[in-house]
Amino acid sequence: MIESLSEVIRMIRVHVNDPLDEEAMELLRSKKELEVTSEHLEKDELIKIMPEIEVLVVRSATKVTADVIEAGKKLKIIARAGVGLDNIDLDKAKERGIKVLNTPGASAASVAELTIGMMFALSRHIVRGTMDLKEGKWTKKQLKGVELGGKTLGIIGLGRIGREVAKRALALGMKVIAYDPFVKEIDMDVKLVDLDEIFSNSDYITVHVPLIPETKHLINDEAFEKMKKGVFVLNCARGGIVDEEALLKALKDGKVAGAGMDVFETEPPTSDVEKELLSLPNVVATPHIGASTKEAQKRVGKEIVNRIFEELGI
Ligand code: MLT
Repeated sequence: MIESLSEVIRMIRVHVNDPLDEEAMELLRSKKELEVTSEHLEKDELIKIMPEIEVLVVRSATKVTADVIEAGKKLKIIARAGVGLDNIDLDKAKERGIKVLNTPGASAASVAELTIGMMFALSRHIVRGTMDLKEGKWTKKQLKGVELGGKTLGIIGLGRIGREVAKRALALGMKVIAYDPFVKEIDMDVKLVDLDEIFSNSDYITVHVPLIPETKHLINDEAFEKMKKGVFVLNCARGGIVDEEALLKALKDGKVAGAGMDVFETEPPTSDVEKELLSLPNVVATPHIGASTKEAQKRVGKEIVNRIFEELGI
């Protein structure tokens, strides 16, 4: 009897280690079964509280490494509010029987919009024009751009985000080709091709794949070699898919006309190569904000909290 009573009042400890949308936090706190804490703890501090945590909620800032998971003696769920799982040691989680949840589609439209925004920014020198004007320079003659309409966009990775990018590019009158080894047919006006064809036929190339050993430095010297002169390259997926050193070389020798980067091999970007990339006028860069819109964060927050409830059966 006493045992069942203590069972009734047992609280499930949930720790939210990266900021989550406020409505999602309210939803989480609305469950009487949950004791919710929310504070970004650096690794050493996080490890100290891990023995009491049953559900750990993170975005991309928290690295859920093997030792963090190991310290979670009661850990049942790692909930990633977002898409990429590269900040979580999935092998360790599997070995410990810990469920890993994420929200694969919730931020797709926002990432796609940023990708298209970068294509416009690069093609029409929007950032450079703004900076020149702010410095009092009228550089109209130097800023002749190109149209997106009629150009070929090569999409690597035709998952939820890649498809959203395709939809928007088609609406702009672009021709869209795509490579995805897992997609055999497609219900859009997109031609499925192999990787070499993406490299050799595209005016714009954008990657929308996870960072896994098979995709690390997928866009490397060899790939740049195969591309058209004057191609634009975009990475709003994960740092490390595009080899930054190879990209710098290709930008400097004029093979690549411009690059859009929302993600970096080190975040924040601090390496010499990254600093040089950021100093180039034909690089448009943002600080990993693909999913950072009000709408996406609302969807991500709501979806991850509901998935946690479902998993806990509450
Ligand atoms: C994601 O994987 O969901 C995005 O990169 C956004 C993020 O990590 O915040």
